[in-house]
Amino acid sequence: MVKVIYVEQDGARHDIDVPEGWTVMQGAQRNGLDGIEAECGGSCCCATCHVYVAEDMLGLIPPPGEMEDGMLDNVVAERRPNSRLSCQITLTAALDGLVVHLPEAQS
Ligand code: FES
Repeated sequence: MVKVIYVEQDGARHDIDVPEGWTVMQGAQRNGLDGIEAECGGSCCCATCHVYVAEDMLGLIPPPGEMEDGMLDNVVAERRPNSRLSCQITLTAALDGLVVHLPEAQS
């Protein structure tokens, strides 16, 4: 299991153990966490699974691919240097303790 810490806008923190190989989006959705809509189900074509990755952990995640980078232009909340689509972050043991902040809106 890989621990992912999802932090809501109001600071509420959810520590969730997610199986390795799942995405950050799946970890939220399958544990009933609101704040990640993921309308396309993880196909990288809706931009409603936007998260801000803790800046000190960004280097642990491969940079966004061309498709993700393009879709990040469509997020509703402000796009920042640490913006990522959570369906494109696959969890590995190296990401244990990953902190992601949820944006104020997804759609
Ligand atoms: S779930 Fe649609 S882009 Fe991530």
